[in-house]
Amino acid sequence: MIQNSEIQRRRTFAIVAHPDAGKTSLTEKLLLFGGQIQVAGAVKSHKIRKTATSDWMDIEKQRGISVTTSVMEFDYAGYKINILDTPGHKDFAEDTYRTLTAVDSVIIVIDGAKGVEAQTLKLMEVCRMRNTPVIIFINKMDREGRDPFDLLDELENQLLIQVRPLSWPIDQGARFKGVYNIYENKLDLYQPSKQVVTEKVEVDIHTEELDKHIGKSLADKLRNDLELIEGVYPKFDVNSYQSAECAPVFFGSALNNFGVEELLNCFVKIAPSPRPVKTVERIVDPEEPKFTGFIFKITANIDPNHRSCIAFCKVCSGRFVRNIPYLHVRYNKLMRFSSPTQFMAQRKTTVDEAYAGDIVGLPDNGIFKIGDTLTEGEELHFRGLPSFSPEMFKYIENTDPMKQKQLAKGIDQLMDEGVAQLFTNQFNGRKIIGTVGQLQFEVIQYRLLNEYNASCRWEPISLYKACWIESDDKEELDAFKKRKYQYVAKDRDGRDVFLADSNYVLQMAQNDFKKIKFHFSSEF
Ligand code: G4P
Repeated sequence: MIQNSEIQRRRTFAIVAHPDAGKTSLTEKLLLFGGQIQVAGAVKSHKIRKTATSDWMDIEKQRGISVTTSVMEFDYAGYKINILDTPGHKDFAEDTYRTLTAVDSVIIVIDGAKGVEAQTLKLMEVCRMRNTPVIIFINKMDREGRDPFDLLDELENQLLIQVRPLSWPIDQGARFKGVYNIYENKLDLYQPSKQVVTEKVEVDIHTEELDKHIGKSLADKLRNDLELIEGVYPKFDVNSYQSAECAPVFFGSALNNFGVEELLNCFVKIAPSPRPVKTVERIVDPEEPKFTGFIFKITANIDPNHRSCIAFCKVCSGRFVRNIPYLHVRYNKLMRFSSPTQFMAQRKTTVDEAYAGDIVGLPDNGIFKIGDTLTEGEELHFRGLPSFSPEMFKYIENTDPMKQKQLAKGIDQLMDEGVAQLFTNQFNGRKIIGTVGQLQFEVIQYRLLNEYNASCRWEPISLYKACWIESDDKEELDAFKKRKYQYVAKDRDGRDVFLADSNYVLQMAQNDFKKIKFHFSSEF
C-alpha cells in the first residue's frame, strides 16, 4: 500500500491572486519553510536573473514579468507539497484558469486594503465551476486596511462562498499586534521581519495574561471579536471546506513572513489529497493502481538551447514510471518517455516515478495538445478544460506568401498549447485569434517569427464576445446562422461560434432565438 500512502500525503495546489496582492511573497515564504530557498527575496531575484540571462522570450525581458507557469515541489512535515505557479499578469489569465484544472485546492490571496478585486472574482468563478476547495489569506495586515468583519462580508457576498475565520488580526497597520490563531488557540505576536518566524505564545484569552501581551483594550476587543465570530460563523468543519462550501480565512503579512507558517500548518492538515477526477467515460479515483494523467499546460522553450516544449502532465491515478510505454489516447499510440522531469523550486530533475497528485514534465515536439490523456491502455478522456470566451479579437494575416505553411503550422501548435483561441469566420474564411489580453498578440507574433520563421500582421476587428451556440432545433439554428451569416465562425473543433459585436446584439440574439443556447465557455 506504499502507493496509497504516497498519494494521501500529496497536496497539489495553486496560489492565486489579483496582481500585487502578494502571491509571489506568499509563495516565497512557503518555499522558505520547505527549505527550497534559504533567504527571502530569492524568488524575486531569480526572476531577475532569469530574465537577464535567457533570451527565449524577449517579451518577458522587456515587460519584466514572468509569463510561464512552473511547478514547485517540496516536502514539509511528512507531506509532499506541489505548488503550481501561475502567471501574475492578467493577460495570461487563461493560463491560470487552465492550471486550476490540475490542482486539488487553491489558496486565494487578498490585499487587506483592497478586498475582492476583478481578477479574484474570475478566479473564484473557476474554482466554483470545479468545486475546488479554497483557503483565503488576507495579506498586508501590517498596512492600514479595511475592517476585518467588512472584509469577510465582502468575501461572502462577492465570492459567493461561506467563510470561516481560522485566525483573527489584532489591529492593523502601524498598530498591528499579531493574530490570534483560532485553529490552534494560540496568540502569535507580530515582529516585522522578512526572515525570522515570529513568537508564538499559548495564552488563555480569558485570563489577564492576554492583557499583558497586547494591552487591555485590544485584549477586550479581541475577546469580543472572537465571541462574535463564534456566534456568527459556523463552526469550522473540514468536510464543508473540502466540498467547497466554506472557505477558511487566515490573516497575516506575507512580506513579513507573518501568519504564513500557521496557514501552512493548517493547510497540510485540512487540504485534500488528490481528488477523484471526471473523465467522459467514468470517474477516476487517484488510488486506482493504474496510471492515468492529462496534459494541462504546455510551455515553450524553457531552455533557450532547446526549442522543444514541455508538456505538463497531472498524474490523476496510480504511478507514472519512466520508460514504460503509455497510451496516448488521441493518437491511439503507445509512447514511452525517457526523460520526464520534476521541478524542485526552479530546478528541473529527471524522475523515475511519480504518483497521483504529482506533475511531470514531458518533452514535447508537437505531440501534445492541452487535454490529451495518457493511460495504461484504457480509452479515457479527461474533461473540465473549458475555454472561456476571449476578450480581444484580431484577424491574423500572413505577410509572407512563401511562408504560408510555416504560419499555419505555427498557429496550429500555438493553439495546441492553448496560447489563444482560433476561430474561422464562415462567411469570408478569415482567421480570427481571440485572447484575454493585448500582450498575447505580441507573444504570438514574436513566437511565430522566432520559432516558425513565419511573419504575420494583425488587423482590427471589433467584437464583444465569442459564444458557442447549440440547439436541439436545427431549423432555428439554421435560421440564426442565415440571419447572422457574417458573424458565425467555427472553433478548432468544428463547433459553431457566434461572434457578437456588442452586448446589445448578443442580448437581442438571445431574445429572438430562444431555442438556441449561448455558452460563454466551451464546456457545456
Ligand atoms: P503578486 O505576486 O501577487 O503580484 O504580489 P507580490 O508578492 O509581488 O507583492 C506585490 C507588492 O506588495 C510588493 O511590493 C510586495 O513587497 C508587497 N507586499 C506583499 N506582501 C506584503 C505585506 O504583507 N505587507 C506589505 N506592506 N507589502 C506587501 P512592490 O513594491 O511591488 O515590490 P518590492 O519592491 O517590495 O519587491
